[in-house]
Amino acid sequence: QKLEMQLEAIEKGGYEHFMLKEIHEQPRSIQDCFRGRLNLDEGWVGLGGIKDYEKQLTKAKRIIMVACGTSWHAALVGEYLFEDLTRIPVEVEYASEFRYRNPIINEDDIVIAISQSGETADTLAALDLAKSKGATILGICNVVGSSISRVTDAGSYTHAGPEIGVASTKAFTAQVTVLTLMALTIARKKGTIIESEFRKIITELDLIPNKVAKILEKADQLEEIAAAYKDASNALYLGRGNSFPVALEGALKLKEISYIHAEGYPAAEMKHGPIALIDEEMPVFVIATQGPSYEKVVSNIQEVKARKGKIIAVITEGDEQVKEMADHCIEIPDTDENLTPLLTTIPLQLISYYVAVMRGANVDQPRNLAKSVTVE
Ligand code: G6P
Repeated sequence: QKLEMQLEAIEKGGYEHFMLKEIHEQPRSIQDCFRGRLNLDEGWVGLGGIKDYEKQLTKAKRIIMVACGTSWHAALVGEYLFEDLTRIPVEVEYASEFRYRNPIINEDDIVIAISQSGETADTLAALDLAKSKGATILGICNVVGSSISRVTDAGSYTHAGPEIGVASTKAFTAQVTVLTLMALTIARKKGTIIESEFRKIITELDLIPNKVAKILEKADQLEEIAAAYKDASNALYLGRGNSFPVALEGALKLKEISYIHAEGYPAAEMKHGPIALIDEEMPVFVIATQGPSYEKVVSNIQEVKARKGKIIAVITEGDEQVKEMADHCIEIPDTDENLTPLLTTIPLQLISYYVAVMRGANVDQPRNLAKSVTVE
C-alpha cells in the first residue's frame, strides 16, 4: 500500500494530481506530436502513417469524423480546419448516433475515428459499420496498439504519452495538432492553400508550445478566477467559429470534474435559450480572441452584461475593448486563426481543475466516469 502510494507520487512528478501534471505537459506533448512531422527550414508537413492514403484524401468528396466525449470536440475543431484549409466537406458524428442511424456511407468516403484510448466501444462499432460499407477508415489514437489503431486501414498517433486523469486534456490538444497537420498535408497536396499561408501556419504551429507555456504561467490568476466562481451552480461557455468547440470542451471539463452544471453554446445561439438563465449568479466564459467574429462576440458580451451576468473572457493580448466590459480577462498570445483552439483551451482546463480542487472533488477519478468506455 505504502509502496503503491510512493509510486503514484513519483508518477505524478511532483504535481498534486495527474490532471494538473497532464495540463502542464502540453508544451511538451504538442511538440512531441509534431516532432518529425513538420520541418520549418524545408517547409513541409507530413504524417508517415497516412502517406499511402494522401492521394485518396485529396480526392475525397467527403470526410466523416466519428468520436465520443472530448475526442468529439477535437473532431469539431477538425471540421473547421479541414473545411477551411482543404475545402473538403466534413461531417462530425457522435459514434453512438452514427452507428444506430443507418447512415449513408459510400465507398469513396473516408471515415476518421478520433480516440484517446482507442478502445471506446461506440467508436469501434462505428468504424466496423463504415468498413462494412466499404469506406476507408483512418484513426487518430493516443494509445499505441489499441483496438482502433489495429482495425483502421491507417492512421496517425497523437504521441501525447499516457493520460491518466479521466478528464482528457493533453490528448485533446494533441488530437487537434494531428488534425492540423493532416489538414495542412492535404491542403498542400490539393493546392487549396497558397504557399505563403502554408508557411505562416507552420511557423505559427511551431511557436504553439512556447505560447502554451506562457499561458500556463498564468496559473495564479486562473486560480483566483476559480476561487471567485467555485460556488456557482451553473456556468455558460460561449464561442463562435472554431471557438465554439472550445466552449463545449470548457463546459465539459467543468461539469465532469467539479459537478457544476455547465453548457457550451455557439455565442449567437445564446439568445435562443440560455439568455433566459442569465442573472448576477451566472458566470459566462466567453472566448473573445481577435478574429473574424470578434465584434459579434463583443456584442454577445454586452448582452450578458446587460443582464448582470459575470463575464470571464479569454482575449488576445493587448485587447482593451473587452477588458472594459469583462469581470475577468485572461490574455493569451496571438496566433493564426486556425490554431487558436490550441491556446484558448488551456486556461479553461486550469480553471476547471482549480474549481474541482476547491470543491474537494476527486479530480483524477470523477464519480461515475471512466477513462475508457468499453461498454456501450
Ligand atoms: C470517456 C472519457 C473522456 C473521453 C471519452 C472518449 O468519456 O472520460 O475523457 O473523451 O471517453 O474516449 P476516447 O478514448 O475514445 O477518446
